[in-house]
Amino acid sequence: MKKIPVILDCDPGHDDAVAIVLAARSPEIELVGITCVAGNVEVEQTAANALKVCGLAGLRTVPVFKGMAQPLLNELLTAEHIHGKSGLDGAELPPTDLTVQPTHAVDFLIEKIFTFPHEMTIIAIGPLTNIAMAILREPRITELTKQIVLMGGAMGMGNVTPSAEFNIYVDPEAARIVFNSGIPLTMIGLDVTHQVLVSRDIIEQIRQNGTSLAHTFASLLAWYNASLNALSGELAAMHDPCAVAMVCDPSLIATELMRVDIETRGEFTRGRTVCARGFSAGRMPNARVAVGINAPRVWKMLIERLR
Ligand code: RIB
Ligand code: CA
Repeated sequence: MKKIPVILDCDPGHDDAVAIVLAARSPEIELVGITCVAGNVEVEQTAANALKVCGLAGLRTVPVFKGMAQPLLNELLTAEHIHGKSGLDGAELPPTDLTVQPTHAVDFLIEKIFTFPHEMTIIAIGPLTNIAMAILREPRITELTKQIVLMGGAMGMGNVTPSAEFNIYVDPEAARIVFNSGIPLTMIGLDVTHQVLVSRDIIEQIRQNGTSLAHTFASLLAWYNASLNALSGELAAMHDPCAVAMVCDPSLIATELMRVDIETRGEFTRGRTVCARGFSAGRMPNARVAVGINAPRVWKMLIERLR
């Protein structure tokens, strides 16, 4: 089986951390690099978190790059209230000697897409600022990128406002550039990721793996769950790993071809992914949108590959 070359663009973040390890340990994927963006926490911290996760998981050959520190227009909105001040509260990840690469994440994205024309899959699980900047800096990548699979948006309710999901809300202008780029796009939104919930049983199954990584991740997820529970009375969702799981096994998620427009102006609707089945006011479909997920099979893959 030919491996799928992937660049994982992320903002670790508890669910991003799980997505990094899942991507690295999936036989279907060749993890070519990890690019970090400001989102859940500042970009210095998301990059530091990515390095620590790589160190903990023994991923010493996956290059990590630091990207955009601010959204294109917005002030940065972070999510310390959910992920904690470090962005990975709930466990002490050991310090690592790994360091970020000198190349900027945006330049790395462009360079790799040109090196592997029509082969690169970008899995984007944070705000889309890095991806949009790469498109603005080098528009030709819109013809050369195989696909983008992103966690973000929602057909229904958002999680930052009733209209908007966090990754899109942080940088709606970047999202609009990405959704209008013409790059083949799969949007995995809250409608399906909210079905992949972190239960105590799942945490115990992960902890039973017995490794230091398993114990650390079980502690991280327990903290993440408690944080969401305190905030909203809900269980935490494994948003980002759903995007990785979809690349590994597309049968896990059902999608429909839709027209997705990004609201950038509405006082109460800014950051909304406005999804129409097929055309919308003459505008062509531009994304496959996740409408169903096999959550038990996603968890099965996750638990097996966290081992
Ligand atoms: O809305 C969920 C998304 O926002 C996830 O990517 C999570 O990591 C946060 O970035
Ligand atoms: Ca994320």
